[in-house]
Amino acid sequence: MFKNNHIVKVFDFAQTDRKTTTNNSQFIIHNSQLTIKKMAVNTKTALVTGGSRGLGKNMAIAIAKKGIDVIITYNSKKEEADLVVKEIEGLGQKAAALQLNVAESNTFDAFYKEVESTLKNTFKTDKFDFLINNAGIGIHNSFIGTTEAEFDQLTNIQFKGPFFLTQKGLNVMNDGGGIVNISTGLARFSFPGYAAYASMKGAIETLTKYQAKELGARKIRVNVVAPGAIETDFGGGVVRDNEQMNQQIASVTALGRVGLPDDIGGVVAFLCTEDARWINAQRIEASGGMML
Ligand SMILES: NC(=O)c1ccc[n+]([C@@H]2O[C@H](COP(=O)([O-])OP(=O)(O)OC[C@H]3O[C@@H](n4cnc5c(N)ncnc54)[C@H](OP(=O)(O)O)[C@@H]3O)[C@@H](O)[C@H]2O)c1
Repeated sequence: MFKNNHIVKVFDFAQTDRKTTTNNSQFIIHNSQLTIKKMAVNTKTALVTGGSRGLGKNMAIAIAKKGIDVIITYNSKKEEADLVVKEIEGLGQKAAALQLNVAESNTFDAFYKEVESTLKNTFKTDKFDFLINNAGIGIHNSFIGTTEAEFDQLTNIQFKGPFFLTQKGLNVMNDGGGIVNISTGLARFSFPGYAAYASMKGAIETLTKYQAKELGARKIRVNVVAPGAIETDFGGGVVRDNEQMNQQIASVTALGRVGLPDDIGGVVAFLCTEDARWINAQRIEASGGMML
């Protein structure tokens, strides 16, 4: 199970001989000396789309805190993505950032070739374990006003992209891992101006059940996390920057405030742990009790 062992520290310790092993370290007391050996374990790897900012960044860091290596993708913000990679490396995990536009499904084969070479060269492994379909945009328009171009853009980014990115990613995924699709509270309740956006998220929720059914044979769990309104750049940062909107959402939320990225990352990270091994095909809403 362990690839290599190395001694991190040796110092005097007045106790009788003992050996204790935790997840990634071994503590040995011998001849009044404590030796701490750090052991390289079979580390799991997650692929988080849209990990350069907002919720994806928070998810990637929370996943790394669980001892999982992370590949993030960015669309346009390479510098932000590189900072996230540095932050994850600072936590002691391996990390890399790859460019991906989820609206361009014709690039997915080439993208996975890049994933494979990154896994081989940087992560010293050949497959990843968790896929987090997070990347996305919002377009605010009424049902009556929504154009075909807006509809197509949302379809490509929010539904077609995750559909085929997951399908093509299965060849590079280990059995026994997991997929987390990101939906929204707006798929449960309705706010004017989100007909197309929320419909795509509704579609991803239905898809999740079908994926869980078919991928169960490979012991891959598939779940949905549905955040409420969160303070990020999403939708032009309206939840964070528009005081009136912020207060309106807080007033319809049982816990009395809007969400923060920290409210979400840990939920997704939990789904990537062994403690979540029996959670499958579920929709977990993290909205502080919005629109109850
Ligand atoms: N914030 C909310 O209130 C809220 C609530 C419910 C659900 N969600 C969902 O949560 C997810 C993340 O939202 P967020 O709030 O973190 O938004 P955000 O702060 O605007 O970040 C969006 C992320 O997605 C990436 N991205 C955007 N378009 C992309 C494309 N075409 N291809 C690949 N990557 C793309 C961005 O990459 P670059 O940085 O390179 O541009 C960025 O990393 C979305 O799916 C959204 O629908 C958000």
